[in-house]
Amino acid sequence: MLARRNKAKPETAKDNGTNRAELLLDWYDRHRRRLSWRALPGEQSDPYRVWLSEIMLQQTTVKAVGPYFEKFIARWPSVADLGAASLDDVLRMWAGLGYYSRARNLHACAVSVLRDHGGAFPNTEEALRALPGVGPYTAAAIAAIAFGRRAMPVDGNVERVVSRLFAVEEALPKAKPRIQELAATLLGPSRAGDSAQALMDLGSSICTPKKPACVLCPLNDGCVAQARGDQETFPRKAPKKTGALRRGAAFVVTRGNELLVRTRPEKGLLGGMTEVPNSDWLADQSDRIALKQAPALKTVSRWHRKAGVVTHVFTHFPLELVVYTTRVSARTRAPDNMRWVKIATLKDEAFPNVMRKVIVRGLDN
Ligand code: ADE
Repeated sequence: MLARRNKAKPETAKDNGTNRAELLLDWYDRHRRRLSWRALPGEQSDPYRVWLSEIMLQQTTVKAVGPYFEKFIARWPSVADLGAASLDDVLRMWAGLGYYSRARNLHACAVSVLRDHGGAFPNTEEALRALPGVGPYTAAAIAAIAFGRRAMPVDGNVERVVSRLFAVEEALPKAKPRIQELAATLLGPSRAGDSAQALMDLGSSICTPKKPACVLCPLNDGCVAQARGDQETFPRKAPKKTGALRRGAAFVVTRGNELLVRTRPEKGLLGGMTEVPNSDWLADQSDRIALKQAPALKTVSRWHRKAGVVTHVFTHFPLELVVYTTRVSARTRAPDNMRWVKIATLKDEAFPNVMRKVIVRGLDN
């Protein structure tokens, strides 16, 4: 364990950074979360496990990832096993974790590691970033955690800790480069992966968005926001610019105990996720024109318009969807690019929240 510095000694800015890095690692050695992809103290990290966990943790919580990580490791213990698996098997195992483009990239990445890198993950941020599904954050996380590179991945937790520690007044997202720079000052001379994971753990357990437990924080002494008492107001965020209201129609079609669905294009909003057929979403969409975009089907009953609308607020615009329902006969084929799924297995589909609301409304009698 690293020794703490004598606090009484006058500190330069550099000393202060070193001191913080040491305090952070000290805290991590005592309080680190035990997570199955993490190496135990003194053990070498397995790049495959680190990469797999980081891909799963993109947009998903540690709690939700746990069982999926175990299932994947049991079925495919190495990157070579995963690269040799079929994409269908990988997608099936991924079902329920959401954002299916991640599963496609996961498989493509395993194939690329086998084909282009002789089965061993590359060990620099730059080479990692060239792999499918590995962006700047994930590349920094793998480089630091798996290979001890001096890189600092900055996620939402780290942004919060750092913006409070240094009272970063600039608002997100503009403040990102500054926060990245300040976060890097919390890296010690070694153990970069532990420094990064210490900040992640600190952000999730102590430096929480509401009511942070500052008395327990190893960095509270030098935390500018804490000293001022306005720590909960960080990180500063630019007021959200919400676009104009968009409107559309969604179509809930049942065939016995099955529902008609399709997969959204890989690129763009809600890429790769599942939805019921629906019209364009436009600011000046009229109900009449939206209804004309209903799937071409011979229906048993007429299109029935549900009362009210389903509303959803995306980052860039609010949406109102009118929900229409109908039934079709048992032998009706799904139109091109659509498929029937059993209503009992809907939970295995990657529906975005807006579609969950539509389906609940549509299937409600
Ligand atoms: N979130 C993303 N990566 C993580 C990690 N390695 N540990 C904990 N939370 C994380």
